[in-house]
Amino acid sequence: MHASELFDTYAKDYESRFIKNPLVEYQRSMVHAILRPYLSSKKNVLDVGCGPGADFDFYKSLSLNIDAIDISREMIKAARIQAKRLGLNVRIARSAIADFVPDIRYDVVILNFGVINAIDDIDKTMQTINKILADQGRVFIVCKPPLHIFTLKADLLFFRFKNAYNRAIKHKTITDENFIVHHYVSKQFKKYFVCEKRYNLCSILPSPTQFKHAAFARKWTKLFINMDKKLAPVLPEFMGGDHILHILKRK
Ligand SMILES: C[S@@+](CC[C@H](N)C(=O)[O-])C[C@H]1O[C@@H](n2cnc3c(N)ncnc32)[C@H](O)[C@@H]1O
Repeated sequence: MHASELFDTYAKDYESRFIKNPLVEYQRSMVHAILRPYLSSKKNVLDVGCGPGADFDFYKSLSLNIDAIDISREMIKAARIQAKRLGLNVRIARSAIADFVPDIRYDVVILNFGVINAIDDIDKTMQTINKILADQGRVFIVCKPPLHIFTLKADLLFFRFKNAYNRAIKHKTITDENFIVHHYVSKQFKKYFVCEKRYNLCSILPSPTQFKHAAFARKWTKLFINMDKKLAPVLPEFMGGDHILHILKRK
């Protein structure tokens, strides 16, 4: 299945299924707090894989003018509605990042919440971002890494050994829709960029789906969320997380 088809099917209930999940909100608020100092109305900002405009209220709160692209027709429709509702000044285009040819260069390029995991042509994507990034620009990639301790534990506990092997060793997950999710590590970004900083998000917390379905996961989150926040900027990459935020700059 192609990414555009998959995300077309997700677009309708993306907000209720995903954006409103408290552990997604937690991770997004961490990403926003880290992003904020890099943003101002003078900066050219590109939101890659904007989905239904999940970050548009954040951009609006900072009075930004941004550009946004997405590969999915349905996500683009939802993003246009969200932009209009918020009165956000945004140019929205339907494009895969690897094929995107903008008329400006960007100070900040954001791939939030697993956009990169849906991309298989990582080298072409990195090359395109390199081309469209301003000299002093920064790239923010929020990526599902190969290891998330809670997901691995659940896979082993419920005998999903193939899932565990595929993600941890092959760096791939195959969804129910037969879509391949790629779990990238910073080594793959380092070919093109310098990795300036990294934050492991939800490294000691469950995934948003586990949080939704298991009372134990919710109790655990309550107990350890503050510790997770403190660990995020200091844990080594191999400790993993539900997502890792990578901040990249030009070589
Ligand atoms: C998991 S959603 C994340 C949406 C949003 N950024 C967020 O923070 O919730 C991934 C989005 O990336 C888009 N996408 C996937 N592959 C893409 C590509 N090659 N170029 C641009 N967008 C892509 C999908 O259509 C989808 O809307």
